[in-house]
Amino acid sequence: MGIPVKDGIMWVGKTDWEIRSFHGEELSTFSGTTYNSYLVRDEKTVLIDTAWTPYAEEFIENLKREMDLKKIDYIVANHAEMDHSGALPALMREIPDTPIICTENGVKSLKGHYHADWKFMPVKTGDKVNIGSRELVFIEARLLHWPDSMMCYLTGSNVLFSNDAFGQHYATETLYNDLADQCTLFQEAVKYYANILTPYSKLVEQKIKEVLALNLPVDMICPSHGVIWRKDPLQIANKYLEWSQDYQENQVTIIYDTMWNSTRKMAEAIARGIAAAGKGIEVKIYSSSRNDKNEIITDVFKSKAVLVGSPTMNRGILSSVAGLLEEMRGLGFKRKKAAAFGTYGWSGESVKMITEGLQRAGFEIAGEGPRALWQADDAALKQCFDFGLEFAKQL
Ligand code: FEO
Repeated sequence: MGIPVKDGIMWVGKTDWEIRSFHGEELSTFSGTTYNSYLVRDEKTVLIDTAWTPYAEEFIENLKREMDLKKIDYIVANHAEMDHSGALPALMREIPDTPIICTENGVKSLKGHYHADWKFMPVKTGDKVNIGSRELVFIEARLLHWPDSMMCYLTGSNVLFSNDAFGQHYATETLYNDLADQCTLFQEAVKYYANILTPYSKLVEQKIKEVLALNLPVDMICPSHGVIWRKDPLQIANKYLEWSQDYQENQVTIIYDTMWNSTRKMAEAIARGIAAAGKGIEVKIYSSSRNDKNEIITDVFKSKAVLVGSPTMNRGILSSVAGLLEEMRGLGFKRKKAAAFGTYGWSGESVKMITEGLQRAGFEIAGEGPRALWQADDAALKQCFDFGLEFAKQL
């Protein structure tokens, strides 16, 4: 059943307690997620977004318990990705003539996904639809995070339906930010930003400044995933502003993979060196093969610098390290320092290859990292410690 939110707005989404990965296997969702859909009732009735395809039937059955589907005057598709549009085909079989409001890019994406010629009603920033006592105002949010993404604002109720922006993969029965576990909420919010929105940070900054400059009253932000921001709703917009401007904390993340523990020992010695610099730097150490890559990326996002290590194998680097370098290249972090380290037995290409990978990923290389032949001995570990110490001094 739906949950009343405010002034005839009802949450009619789906909470997914089971999901543990998103975008195929690309994004871990250890806290589950929600597909938020909202029904807005005024003289006209509007459905904003739907749910992911496997829950389409359940979504529609629940919606039918709430109302006669034929009474829906408009469907707003803020974003065509299937976690929000997945129930559209089943819904449109029931109400085929209902207009779908979306951006021009939304028309292309929805047609590309479902190959259906529905009654699309494309909108641009500033377009409005009168629904009776209130208006829905549309705001294109191109590349936040797809070309079709859009938000809409409900006048009178002062609610921003922000779609993916400000969302979190966080399943909870308590619908609102003030009732949620704050630690999980902000960890999931920053993980979402770091892993999905980092490449679009410049656009995030521009769009948020643009929306804030409108000086619209915002009583509530209703994203399409996770909790609704009702207590100090703009706090998440201000966090996004902070995160979008090459965010960093006083933190260094060390990532390594190891075969016989020598590269691990190097990582730990570097960490001791950083700590010994006495600059209060938080050091996170991750084995790239034993930790979740999205959790690692979240810590890279928070860091001033990263150190990446691998032994040389087959004239290259271990696959988990290569995967993370590719992940970081795609996300395009800015204003972070980096260095490589690693062990070798004979050819010894790993440090050079990681350094090149970090350069490609846009990191500023801060010196030539240590290499250790076979098992790192006391002298090699001392070299790692000293490297960590000097590295920290540059931060
Ligand atoms: Fe939640 Fe971009 O879909």
